[in-house]
Amino acid sequence: MKQCLISPSMLAADFANIQRDVEMLNESEADYIHIDIMDGVFVPNISFGFPVTEAIARHAKKPLDFHLMISHVDPYLEACKNSGAKIITVHYEGAVHLHRTIATIKSMGIKAGVALNPHTPVSVLGDLLADLDLVLIMSVNPGFGGQKFIPHTFAKVEQLASMAANINPDLLIEVDGGVTSENAAALIQKGANMLVAGSFVFQSADPKQTIISLKNV
Ligand code: DX5
Ligand code: ZN
Repeated sequence: MKQCLISPSMLAADFANIQRDVEMLNESEADYIHIDIMDGVFVPNISFGFPVTEAIARHAKKPLDFHLMISHVDPYLEACKNSGAKIITVHYEGAVHLHRTIATIKSMGIKAGVALNPHTPVSVLGDLLADLDLVLIMSVNPGFGGQKFIPHTFAKVEQLASMAANINPDLLIEVDGGVTSENAAALIQKGANMLVAGSFVFQSADPKQTIISLKNV
């Protein structure tokens, strides 16, 4: 089975020891570092803002994968760039002019992604899929780490992979929420090639080993 990209989520890190946890990820087999930005409007929670992401960027040696769970993304794209974003993913449900937002992200030389909430069918991306670098399938309702994986995600990943096979075969298919060694193999088998893991990595006894085990699942 093909190896999958792993993007551990800093949402589950120890915020009193951000530098330590970023350095742990630098030494690990992680491919990206996932950065969850929440505004308390699009999702019922607030995570951290750009002063914190700039601090993360100062220590990170892995590329940063930004997941924006905010209502008005356009004014904040530049701040993501200044925090070293290599991927910016915005939610389908929060965007009015998604095509324009994606074009803006790509014009900055940053990979552009769209995230879908659990209730949003992958079919809504039909007219945009060719322009995307990444689609993020939410496998929990966004806003919190440590939630239970929604099994219907498997069917969505499979459907997206088959759509992408014709339109955009290099598409990154990222799954986010409740990812563990229990569901990772099946997700990859259905077509996921990038997995986010927060609590499963940071709450494990040996996070670096857990990242290796997810990669080699
Ligand atoms: C949830 C965030 C996730 C979260 C995942 O809204 O988008 O990235 O950090 O955490 P776990 O892996 O604990 O479900
Ligand atoms: Zn996320």
